[in-house]
Amino acid sequence: MPAYSLLINGKTYPVDADAQMPLLWVIRELVGLTGTKYGCGIAQCGACTVHLKGAPVRSCSFPVSAVLNQPITTIEGISKDNSHPIQKAWIAEQVPQCGYCQSGQIMSAVALLKTNPQPTDDAIDAAMQGNICRCGTYPRIRKAIKRAAGIPPTPNGQ
Ligand code: FES
Ligand code: FES
Repeated sequence: MPAYSLLINGKTYPVDADAQMPLLWVIRELVGLTGTKYGCGIAQCGACTVHLKGAPVRSCSFPVSAVLNQPITTIEGISKDNSHPIQKAWIAEQVPQCGYCQSGQIMSAVALLKTNPQPTDDAIDAAMQGNICRCGTYPRIRKAIKRAAGIPPTPNGQ
């Protein structure tokens, strides 16, 4: 099997993987970073979201050979101690229920505020619509994104 060198969270990891192995498998099984989750495996749920060159991507649908020499950020890379403003807002709003989708949700939210620090409700919905939450935490996700952005909640509390 070919040996690849991946740049994840600012660190270089050598991995022996088949060229077609999905990035998600590499991150979880070969590198050992298990914060990124497997949901559907077909780019439909967002549980596996990581950043590739700063933009959110579905790691279940990227062969490892397509991401060489490009910086990858996983949930473990956004802060060492849950101190990222999105993580703090997530805690303050008690967003997670079962938690399974939440690292993907957070990665999408972090990417949103990086490109749009003051998103409208429509912009939040558009950015987050690909991240499925089977527990229905969407109202709290929206509140937490607004909290992190410093946007006051609307009268309905969101
Ligand atoms: S596991 Fe990748 S989008 Fe669902
Ligand atoms: S918190 Fe359970 S799937 Fe989102």
